[in-house]
Amino acid sequence: MDIVILPTSEHVEKLTARLVADRIKAKPNLVLGCATGRTMEGIYDELVSLAQAHALDFSRVRTFNLDEYVGVSPDDARSYRHYMNRHFFSRVNIDAANTYVPNGLATDLEAECDAYEAAIVAAGGIDLQLLGLGSNGHIGFNEPLSGFQSRTRVQPLAPHTREQNAGMFGGDPEKVPTTALTMGVGTILDSREALLVVTGEHKADILARSLEGPVVGVITATALQFHRRCHVITDEAAAAKLNLREFYRDEVSHLPVWRGYLNALD
Ligand code: GLP
Repeated sequence: MDIVILPTSEHVEKLTARLVADRIKAKPNLVLGCATGRTMEGIYDELVSLAQAHALDFSRVRTFNLDEYVGVSPDDARSYRHYMNRHFFSRVNIDAANTYVPNGLATDLEAECDAYEAAIVAAGGIDLQLLGLGSNGHIGFNEPLSGFQSRTRVQPLAPHTREQNAGMFGGDPEKVPTTALTMGVGTILDSREALLVVTGEHKADILARSLEGPVVGVITATALQFHRRCHVITDEAAAAKLNLREFYRDEVSHLPVWRGYLNALD
């Protein structure tokens, strides 16, 4: 796991977007796992800017989102489908038919989850998975004690998550859906490469526990310690509680692949 620590969240957004753009250039039919949340907004903005500046072609890219609220319509501004259309899909030349978000309105939710897993397999698996970090350590909506081999499924939301996500629901945690559909931890671990993107002082504690703490089921992000190729891109504020941060900085500065990106940010 490489941990790339950058001065600000703007640097994080730029580097992450460049890395995604490079993967698309290298593989025009990339299967991209998408995340939502505030951290991702700036990344999609950057990616859209790069697409415009460098005629980046999304026409063959396929995307799979991590999660969706149950009972919220795709047209509803609070749904993750709406978020994705607004921040990303409507702004690049991606084919809407190639964008997958679990359907939180499906009448048979379990069948929907199974079909979602099958669609990922049919696409050849996820090449690059973008991940944010919930402040309770969840990835996707994999709440504490999600099995590390879990697949896409119906997941009740933790009270903490409903509080954190209340902003989009008038500030009232009671109005946040009680359940969501989420890719499983196992689905995420199957991705060929993953990028965990974390910014802000408020994430410093949970990031340190996720990366340097013991692997525990109550912090599902600790499962990423088992990922075959996970990189963490973080700003100084979120990295502040990492004990070995000077080692990570030094390590990354010696890896040619990261040096190129770091030089390009100056
Ligand atoms: C939600 C999403 C997660 C996301 C998390 C962090 O709970 N289900 O996938 O990583 O929010 O969001 P933010 O970037 O707003 O802190």
